[in-house]
Amino acid sequence: PSDAPLRGQHLVITAGPTREPIDPVRYLSNHSSGKMGYALAAQAKRLGAEVTLVSGPTQLTPPAGVRTLQVETAAEMLAAVESVIASADVFIGCAAVADYRLAEVAPQKLKKQHENMQLELVRNPDILATVAARQNPPLCVGFAAETQAVAHYAADKLKRKKLSMIAANDVSDSSIGFNSDSNAMTLFWQDTNGTLQQRALERASKAQIAEQILRQLTVLQS
Ligand code: C5P
Repeated sequence: PSDAPLRGQHLVITAGPTREPIDPVRYLSNHSSGKMGYALAAQAKRLGAEVTLVSGPTQLTPPAGVRTLQVETAAEMLAAVESVIASADVFIGCAAVADYRLAEVAPQKLKKQHENMQLELVRNPDILATVAARQNPPLCVGFAAETQAVAHYAADKLKRKKLSMIAANDVSDSSIGFNSDSNAMTLFWQDTNGTLQQRALERASKAQIAEQILRQLTVLQS
């Protein structure tokens, strides 16, 4: 576009799943495709931003002109984000970070022995909350994938994680979200009086949704 509302800004965006190893051949992960995060990175670049994409394992090709850091685990994703975040104006946490990792990764392939087995899991760091808790935090945007009470949980997450904006979608509708090429979301933010505001983004391609999210962000900045 002829307008470049994000010129001069550095955006750091996480995308995709994380992969938490169990042993040398197995892992815990989720169905995130990375499409929404990659669409945000491509559109942010198009709108004039300098973009760093921190990506978990996906099938996608990084957008041209976007610095892409490939990671596997949540710990690696946090370390990669921290290596670039000091210069960021905006952080968008779009990755589906695994909430838990293995307490211990087995050094050798686990053998089947018993009828039952248990894996001990420990909580992963919350990358978005960690960035938002920095001393001079960038403007932080989160995503909330919910199957019920979408507005309630999104508003709660906005406040609890100290975000500037959250994009919420209803993942119980399988025609949108996850591996889909289209999406529909509701954006939530607080106005200068602290009153919750919201804007529904009608079903559209992830590229179009990404552009609308980024343009709303520039409105919040002004
Ligand atoms: O609490 P919940 O996982 O639903 O929050 C989702 C938001 O937080 C997303 O923006 C996601 O990228 C981010 N997140 C994160 N690190 C985690 C968990 C979630 O950055 N460990």
